[in-house]
Amino acid sequence: MLLSRRQFVARSAAATALLGTGVSPGSGNTTPALTARSGMVQLAPSDYPMTEVWGYDGLAPGPVLRFKQGERLQRQLINELKQPTSIHWHGIRIDNAMDGVPGLTQDAVQPGGNFTYDFPLPDAGSYWYHAHWASPEQVGRGLHGALVVEEPEAPEVDRDEVLVLDDWRLNPEDAQIMGDFDNRHDLSHAGRYGNIATSNGQYDAVMPVKQHERLRLRLMNVANARIFTLALKGLEGWVMALDGMPLPQPEMAGTLTLAPGQRIDLIVDVTASEEAVLARMEPNGEGWVQVTFPVRGQAAAKRRSVPAALPPNPNMSTVGLNEARAVDLVMEGGAMGGMGGATFKGQDLGMRDLVQQGQFWAFNGTSGRTDTPLARASLGEAIKVKINNQTAFAHAMHLHGMHFREVLPNGYGPMRDTLLVNRAETREIAFVADNPGKWLFHCHMLGHAASGMNSWIEVT
Ligand code: C2O
Ligand code: CU
Repeated sequence: MLLSRRQFVARSAAATALLGTGVSPGSGNTTPALTARSGMVQLAPSDYPMTEVWGYDGLAPGPVLRFKQGERLQRQLINELKQPTSIHWHGIRIDNAMDGVPGLTQDAVQPGGNFTYDFPLPDAGSYWYHAHWASPEQVGRGLHGALVVEEPEAPEVDRDEVLVLDDWRLNPEDAQIMGDFDNRHDLSHAGRYGNIATSNGQYDAVMPVKQHERLRLRLMNVANARIFTLALKGLEGWVMALDGMPLPQPEMAGTLTLAPGQRIDLIVDVTASEEAVLARMEPNGEGWVQVTFPVRGQAAAKRRSVPAALPPNPNMSTVGLNEARAVDLVMEGGAMGGMGGATFKGQDLGMRDLVQQGQFWAFNGTSGRTDTPLARASLGEAIKVKINNQTAFAHAMHLHGMHFREVLPNGYGPMRDTLLVNRAETREIAFVADNPGKWLFHCHMLGHAASGMNSWIEVT
């Protein structure tokens, strides 16, 4: 039988598609899996043993998921842990039913169980996914990974690299994770800081580059509590996006602050001729190498010009924000916070009783997630939340499902999903409640969220 070329191409493509998945039609679930399970990873320097982690597909960080803007993400979470779990897709303006918050948007996935996540990706940018059950321990043991959504037309760079920054508290004897996730000192202070910081799960991350090579670096902070303060040496460039959302204009990259949950997209040129470094600055003034970029050869004779801004995502307008309805959020508690007590599960408790319940913090006098939301908004209504941090610590406030802008004296800040509010600061955020559902609003210092700093906003 004679086939025309076009028909032949079409038929063989269909045949390959079937071969490619190794699945015949009608054989059930073909959704790719993400399995939450334990695994072994070389987190510590190579003369230490490997570390047992909990990770997606046994990896920490989990696999980098890459999609094009507008595509659907479909993944079946398979729970091979000994405890329930769920996945939250941090920063995605998502269908509420897919947001992954047990008790609010879905039931927790029991050991041996599974759940299929299936939703479109409306925005390009750098996002991440992580466990949202017993988060201090599950995220702290490695249940997180990068989710990259590519622009339809990629910016002109030589390479696009993800850098997942984390820190771990390992026993220096055997390099295993210390299990003190409910350590009261951590809960009531700055949160769980580790003793080893990693990039993409490696202690000495090395990324060979060429001089004048142009890199897009997607920095993500997946740590439980550590605020990364970063500096570039031998790399020069621009901040292009924050928390996935493009800036209207690239901004020269200086010292970068990356709070838990936040992302920064950079475009940088390698200006060093021998070695470039991403450095981590400690509060005591020490600088540490976080990533080494050995320079071998040249990609071009000289630097290129300033890159164009990334294309904006949909629905980034500030229209309506000036009329936003005001909501107050007072943060209290923690060590040196002077909180006398708070309401927990409907009961007014003094500080001693709260601590007995593992609670150290409160929003508007209430510890933990309540049955009623912090605010109810009707779909399309603009809301502004004044966050008054009366505690002695910084908190990285994250809103699920929608991005917000900071209200500044002369306008609005960039769109973000996580805002670092330092001790004694009052900061205000505003957003149009354009995504229906129940959306968590919590501190991303995960121990703080688990010990009181948890609320939600309902959009109907
Ligand atoms: Cu990335 Cu509710 O968190
Ligand atoms: Cu906090």
